[in-house]
Amino acid sequence: MKHKNRIFFFLGVLFLLFSTNSYAQTQVRNLTCEYLTNPLAIDVLEPRLSWQLAGNERGIEQTAYQVIVASSKEKLNDNEGDLWNSGKVESDQSINVVYDGVDLKSKMDCFWKVKVWSNKGESIWSEPANWSIGLLFYNEWWGRWIGFDRPFPWDDDSFHSRLSARYLRKEFEVTKPIKQAKVYLMGLGLYELYFNGQKIGDQVLAPVPTDYDENVKYNVFDVTEQLKSGDNAVGVILGNGRYYTMRQHYKPYKIKNFGFPKLMFHMEIEYEDGTKAYVLSNDSWKGTAEGPILSNNEYDGEEYDARKEMPGWNKVGFDDEGWLKPEYVQVPNGTFEAQMTPNMKVMESIKPVSVSKIGEDRYILDLGQNIAGWMKMTVQGNAGDTVQLRFAEVLQDNGELFTANLRDAKATDIYILKGGEKETWEPRFVYHGFQFVEITGYPGVPTVDDFVGQVVYDKMETTGTFETSNSIINQVFKNAYWGIRGNYKGMPVDCPQRNERQPWLGDRSTGCYGESFIFGNEMLYSKWLDDIGYSQKENGAISDVVPNFWRYYSDNMTWPGTYLMVADMLHRQYADVRPIKEHYQSMKKWMDYMKDRYMNEDYIVTQDRYGDWCAPPVTIEAGRGKSADKKHPRELISTAYYYYYLGLMEKFALLSGNGSDVAEFQALAQHIKDGFNRKFYLTEKAGYGENILTDNLLALQMGLVPEENHEAVFNTIVDIILNRNNGHLSTGLIGTQWLMRTLTANGRADIAYQLATNTTYPSWGYMIENGATAIWELWNGNTAAPHMNSYNHVMMLGDLIIWDYEHLAGIKSSTEDSGFKEIVMKPEFVEGLDFVNASYQSVYGEISSEWQKDRSTIEWKLTVPANTKAKVYIPAKSAADITESGVELYQANGVNYLYQEGDRALLEVGSGEYYFQFKR
Ligand code: BGC
Repeated sequence: MKHKNRIFFFLGVLFLLFSTNSYAQTQVRNLTCEYLTNPLAIDVLEPRLSWQLAGNERGIEQTAYQVIVASSKEKLNDNEGDLWNSGKVESDQSINVVYDGVDLKSKMDCFWKVKVWSNKGESIWSEPANWSIGLLFYNEWWGRWIGFDRPFPWDDDSFHSRLSARYLRKEFEVTKPIKQAKVYLMGLGLYELYFNGQKIGDQVLAPVPTDYDENVKYNVFDVTEQLKSGDNAVGVILGNGRYYTMRQHYKPYKIKNFGFPKLMFHMEIEYEDGTKAYVLSNDSWKGTAEGPILSNNEYDGEEYDARKEMPGWNKVGFDDEGWLKPEYVQVPNGTFEAQMTPNMKVMESIKPVSVSKIGEDRYILDLGQNIAGWMKMTVQGNAGDTVQLRFAEVLQDNGELFTANLRDAKATDIYILKGGEKETWEPRFVYHGFQFVEITGYPGVPTVDDFVGQVVYDKMETTGTFETSNSIINQVFKNAYWGIRGNYKGMPVDCPQRNERQPWLGDRSTGCYGESFIFGNEMLYSKWLDDIGYSQKENGAISDVVPNFWRYYSDNMTWPGTYLMVADMLHRQYADVRPIKEHYQSMKKWMDYMKDRYMNEDYIVTQDRYGDWCAPPVTIEAGRGKSADKKHPRELISTAYYYYYLGLMEKFALLSGNGSDVAEFQALAQHIKDGFNRKFYLTEKAGYGENILTDNLLALQMGLVPEENHEAVFNTIVDIILNRNNGHLSTGLIGTQWLMRTLTANGRADIAYQLATNTTYPSWGYMIENGATAIWELWNGNTAAPHMNSYNHVMMLGDLIIWDYEHLAGIKSSTEDSGFKEIVMKPEFVEGLDFVNASYQSVYGEISSEWQKDRSTIEWKLTVPANTKAKVYIPAKSAADITESGVELYQANGVNYLYQEGDRALLEVGSGEYYFQFKR
């Protein structure tokens, strides 16, 4: 027995030795280049490389790194960094290390790996990663733009345009063993690519929309696997997207139309023997507009006649005798750029909740959730049977679709059966915002098993989870999640259902920041920032809608100013300083433009357009049946924002090497602050402007209130909410962006909590009580005039999601550093909440915070990623009142008590998991 025990003891020690060894080792993983995993085409010549460290010990800090970049996998394997070998660099930087090797050229494939040294030891080399450079120069596109720059007789290019999809095909021969084959393509407005009958990639509605007069994004695919020796066929379907716009000959001064669908295709086949072959778009292709997609219009829907399918059209041997020779068509004006934000994809499929009959041959399908996407349908019947699907977000009282809020968007898909076997269909070039579908003409009785709801949005990671003990907060978060994903369409749009769907800047100024906790949206918003830059006029003006499919240069402060706020978000959340550097001069130009034109001698900015857009009517009755489409421009808003933006510009100047501008910004800011107080402060009321909630929130949170009036103004805010508003908010798109944080920063998280959990009008909870499964455009969305109440519009989220993460969960990036290199963990353990569980995938890795209360104790488990630190604020009178993993604080490994700050003990911890307990 004893002997056996000794063996076990010996084995145990061995196991421990081995396991501690491997645990001790720091690992490197999640390598990204320009925030992308193994991108196939970037056009950045100094790409930034990032990685994450991981390990089971606490307090892991990187002390050095080495990056090797090679021109082939083999060289990388042999540690031969022929493109770059950084050598061992003493540094804690693991995010955005700038490539500093051999000059990068078009089409280059770069393979890389990294190893790190940390205070816990040396890692092994990471798994290899790669990136490739796209086509950097216009003249490297050897194909020609092809298509048909005209409607066909069956097309209708009047107001509700109906244009058939264009099909293009080409056969070619592969003569030798292939090393690699890559396709570079621009298919406008939207494309689908096939090789030998097989669709390439999982993207839908590609490429991302841009202002095609400024730039066109190209996509790249590695098709080595899809080609075979001998004959091959490539096929491309072109849809309209925003290129051939949804409304023709309508307000041309406002709505841009770019032209007819077109293709530029460039394929390079590299044979194993080193020779190359090319397949290029030119008039050796064949094309037709007589395929099954009769019409595709983002607002109106898609019409598909399966009888017109052309079996094998994208395969070898298809008889294309009757097809036309494509024409050389007008070249888009914009520059050609690699698309570095993901395309859309079907991200989730959901089963309908019910299908019920509402009339002769008419059924209503309920998805149970307001989504943006489309329905996939299975059907069996006779050739020529026609199924019509009409989409809507809500139903009328009589059970019929409510479509008044879609304005003139027809939102109708039509499928004509080919007959015989079961047919499965989903549209290609449209999407809808809906929960309900009216089905007409379905042969037989449709059931929930015949339909699938396809949820379509940009292929990005869900980075955040969030749950509390309060069901209203949870449901609002869930609605926000649905709303945000539904409105990511290669650009953030306002809504996915009506005849609008425009990327309005004002809706996302603070929204983008909250959204970034839930979705890895850095590439989307970097792309949008570039779009905003492109929209700038020579004189400095920026559009309210970008890409400016609708031209609105209204010169208000708040919508275009989103330019600065998105750049600030990218820096704060993702440690990305490059957008600030690249856009600094344009931002300054816009600030100057607004100052020169609209700032008067009292330092008041006189121009505004939307005011506190969609602020709630005082009562539901007051707003019943009324349009919310009223503008109340306010000088207070534009002046406060100018002041706020100057603060951002000051920060940007320092970050972008323009420090010499700072003094000018500061001096102007001081004048504005004085002018603002002179003009708007109401001494006897201790408030500003009209002494409404938004006015006071802006003044206080933007730092315009002199110290001595701070408390009094905050008391006014509290008074407005608790007494005048009977415990409710009264803010629109502008005020709501500052609401929750102002209350919390001034010690009244309890009121913020009350607003977050209200269910009476106006509140987020009121929407839920009235059936919302996303976020409404209007606080009174159920009773206002229909033409402007979308049921999926994220602008009213304000700063709620930021508050959920930063103040309820306590996950916040410090302003001292960015991108969560230093994390501030200071949850509000508000009365009424028993627990919060939240996690966030930061650029450094996962941060989590889980706390729960009972009558006497709070337990708080938190995770801090490697190579970061967290400041942890615990409500306790001294360190003696806190334990960590059951031991007193001074014994706890990796926990450093700093000092008391107010009623909180401030601790500092390095990476790892911690488990704190303290008395309430
Ligand atoms: C849009 C809003 C937008 C507003 C500005 C509305 O029609 O849906 O989201 O910000 O117009 O005027």
